[in-house]
Amino acid sequence: MHAAHELDDDPDGSGQRRFDELIATDSRIEPSDWMPAAYRKTLVRQISQHANSEIIGMQPEGNWITRAPSLKRKAILMAKVQDEAGHGLYLYSAAQTLGTDRDTMFENLITGKAKYSSIFNYTTPTWADMGSIGWLVDGAAICNQVPLCRASYGPYGRAMVRICKEESFHQRQGFEILLELMRGTPAQQQMAQESVNRWYAPALMMFGPPDADSPNSQQSMAWKIKRFSNDELRQRFVDMLVPQAEILGVTLPDPDLKWNEERGHYDFGELDWAEFTEVLAGRGPANAIRVSRRRTAHENGEWVRAAARAYADKQSADGQSADRQTNQAPAHEWMAS
Ligand SMILES: [Fe+2]
Ligand SMILES: [Fe+2]
Repeated sequence: MHAAHELDDDPDGSGQRRFDELIATDSRIEPSDWMPAAYRKTLVRQISQHANSEIIGMQPEGNWITRAPSLKRKAILMAKVQDEAGHGLYLYSAAQTLGTDRDTMFENLITGKAKYSSIFNYTTPTWADMGSIGWLVDGAAICNQVPLCRASYGPYGRAMVRICKEESFHQRQGFEILLELMRGTPAQQQMAQESVNRWYAPALMMFGPPDADSPNSQQSMAWKIKRFSNDELRQRFVDMLVPQAEILGVTLPDPDLKWNEERGHYDFGELDWAEFTEVLAGRGPANAIRVSRRRTAHENGEWVRAAARAYADKQSADGQSADRQTNQAPAHEWMAS
């Protein structure tokens, strides 16, 4: 399908030269441009994983829509979860511009072949988790995604601009849920703190493994897909969280967290990367349920896809018979008569 972009079709190297020049000048690569096969492959992997994360990410919060404590909270949570569906759809569209079809991406997700962010394999036993997800998970997503607005691949960067605007609303609504709980009864304060205790470290791991263990990062940065390393982004996130935690009155669960005057940043403790690897490998608290729910939802949606296909077929059949009529009496002839 994309034979025109393969290396074989760049025998004189002019495609590669043009690509290198676009990257060097911080210009954008567009779907019709020649690009190295490895660049395309990296983008398909990253964008489709990102899309899958948005779609799976609806589940931990969807869990609370029917149990939200007020009509206002329910309306906000529904809007937020719908935003995540929208993010998934923009991102699948961006991945499709690279020649991967959506059915394949869905199939890979529901058969457990495709990855998505490990954070969504944790469970949401309390209402405070809606606060922690918004504050910490969407907060980490913003740190990660704001630089992606400048990603070298045009459709990805443009999708990220809109997504980031919505993510900042998500983060504020989470912060506000926690703030209200922290101003509430001792039991509510305890619920908020307990939830932050569970989500803090997994949110820090959302930036991926330490730079030394992230061999693909260098290439992604050279291609200007990524602009900052995993560790740089994680540091930025921690520095942002500390003053916000003070306003909330919650304690971040890390005894090694302290300001380092010399570095001008907060130092923080080691993360449990063995846990990260386990969850990513499918052995987290909720991996099986997340994938099976998605599979069920996909199967339950089959009638919608069948109806859309039938409608498209009817449209094209109608179009063909209209063409035949046009052949018998071309438009310009009867318009003139
Ligand atoms: Fe999102
Ligand atoms: Fe979000």
